[in-house]
Amino acid sequence: MSKEIKRIAVFTSGGDAPGMNAGIRAVVRTCVYYEKEVYGVYRGYEGMIDNDIVKLDARSVSNIVQRGGTILKSARSEEFRTSEGRKKAFENLKEREIDALVAIGGNGTFTGLHIFNQEYGIPSICLPGTIDNDLPGMDYTIGYDTATNTAVEAIDKIRDTALSHNRLFFIEVMGRHSGYIAINSGIAGGAVAIIIPEKEMPIEELIEKIDIGAKNNKKSSLVVVAEGGKTGSAWKIAKQVKKQAPYYDTKVTILGHLQRGGAPTYFDRVLASKLGVAAVEGLLEGKDDVMIGIKDNKVVYVPFDVIDTQRHEIDHDELKIAKILSI
Ligand code: F6P
Repeated sequence: MSKEIKRIAVFTSGGDAPGMNAGIRAVVRTCVYYEKEVYGVYRGYEGMIDNDIVKLDARSVSNIVQRGGTILKSARSEEFRTSEGRKKAFENLKEREIDALVAIGGNGTFTGLHIFNQEYGIPSICLPGTIDNDLPGMDYTIGYDTATNTAVEAIDKIRDTALSHNRLFFIEVMGRHSGYIAINSGIAGGAVAIIIPEKEMPIEELIEKIDIGAKNNKKSSLVVVAEGGKTGSAWKIAKQVKKQAPYYDTKVTILGHLQRGGAPTYFDRVLASKLGVAAVEGLLEGKDDVMIGIKDNKVVYVPFDVIDTQRHEIDHDELKIAKILSI
């Protein structure tokens, strides 16, 4: 029989994502509901090492469900990669008798949590908090829906000015090595082409696509480029296109970190709320060393080796949809 869990700490780590606050709120309130003590660790693993840990209650998380960012702040910790750093973190948790952890972050966060779990045996669950939607075994990560909506809003605005000036725009979106934001913001924003890390597109093929549109009387075109692709950044691609097709008036917009902020959509708030409740309940039922997610409307617990070795594959049907609709 595993030991009864009495004190749970929650923290956010890695790149922030809209909906993290809704996740923190859900974890804290579920702990209070089940009469467990709950702590918040500031700045992820950095704060765990620095003993930046506070006790929370139901009111500590009032008025945050609708806010972007993370009230607990976030960091990417180099020190936690060392065994000395992790030892310091463990001593700080031990001092407060914290006996379980809920992390909110992406695969880097879960990797750290898994190593810590193997070394010190503290029961732990990770919520998928990243705009990249790059985690296997589940449908969506917290923050992806909001970030994609933000990208679409920006693309719509760029379309107005592109059309006024008959211009060709290259719009770069985030996603690290994942094309999810690009594919879906590209479809929703009516892109002529979408360039993603999962599928190479030679410059000649891209120019051909744009040329076909121009011959079909398209006055302006938008190309959505995911960061992290082999063809290179939006700047690099735009430069190559300009060189080979100088007749286009080309412009580049990098959306960057604006995709990480803003009020979470209803979808991200609900996803984070469901997962926060399920994470605490899962821990109390003995679940350990897993990432929690939702797949086909059901809560799933994804083990570390799946997250570590598999990809969240893109939907090739969506690429086909984008192609058909871009003529
Ligand atoms: O993982 C989220 C993400 O926003 C990626 O899309 C992007 O590549 C990266 O983080 C940017 O990281 P940072 O905020 O450290 O520059």
